[in-house]
Amino acid sequence: MDLQQLCLKVNDIAREAGNYIKQESATFDRSKIELKGFNDLVSYVDKQAEAQLVEALRSLLPEAGFITEEETATERGEKYNWIIDPLDGTTNFTHGLHHFGVSIALMEGQEIVLGVIYAPMMDECFYATKGNGAYLNGKQIKVSDAPALKDSLIATGFPYYAFDLTQQYLQVLGAFMATSHGVRRIGSAALDLAYVAVGRFEGFFEYNLNAWDVAAGVIIVQEAGGKLSKFTSGGDYIFGREIVASNTFIHDEMLQTIALHWKYN
Ligand code: IPD
Ligand code: CA
Ligand code: CA
Repeated sequence: MDLQQLCLKVNDIAREAGNYIKQESATFDRSKIELKGFNDLVSYVDKQAEAQLVEALRSLLPEAGFITEEETATERGEKYNWIIDPLDGTTNFTHGLHHFGVSIALMEGQEIVLGVIYAPMMDECFYATKGNGAYLNGKQIKVSDAPALKDSLIATGFPYYAFDLTQQYLQVLGAFMATSHGVRRIGSAALDLAYVAVGRFEGFFEYNLNAWDVAAGVIIVQEAGGKLSKFTSGGDYIFGREIVASNTFIHDEMLQTIALHWKYN
């Protein structure tokens, strides 16, 4: 299989779903929000976008299985699995904010080999395949060359449904606020990672994430020259529910800053 050709087809599939979400955003009203759990929002738009994606990806690569947020398809493939978040940034979408995107990754065995993130309101399509670099709308992208945390803008995600670790998280947040150019919470982990890859953010950290939030972003950051880990170095940052992504140069400083306050029970 030619991964680069496959990736261009996945670009088209992500754009089609993204354009559907964009079109719905013009008329969406909050009476259409459904709750999957406390503060865990979903709508017919997430579900319809996912159904479109699954159908298109299934005909593109029939032997692949699926890990998807809305569980439109649950069968697992022996060699290949798509990891999909049809709408990352649902809370933004339902409130009329424009930071949201479609996130699609392909996993071969346990390794991510392809990632596409499309932000329809900005018409930005980030993508990468293993060993072939990372791209935004056809132009190669690289992480920022900022050498230190003091020169860096950091992204994060605030806890919003599980608050047991909030106090130590707030201490970590305070430490980053005091030692960087500032901290942003834009509301889409997929776009946070894409923005590290393109050099808008130097770093990103968040916990309580799922594989579909990060899988595509991980390979885009890697292929743009960035580095990934859990809050301590190493570990499974795709399925391990916590992640640090950086431009590489500030990675150790980020881990040291987190370690000041982050305690595992
Ligand atoms: C969420 C977004 C958000 C992050 C949450 C995710 P969703 O995904 O990525 O930035 O803080 O942890 O669950 O629910 O909008 O697909
Ligand atoms: Ca998500
Ligand atoms: Ca989602």
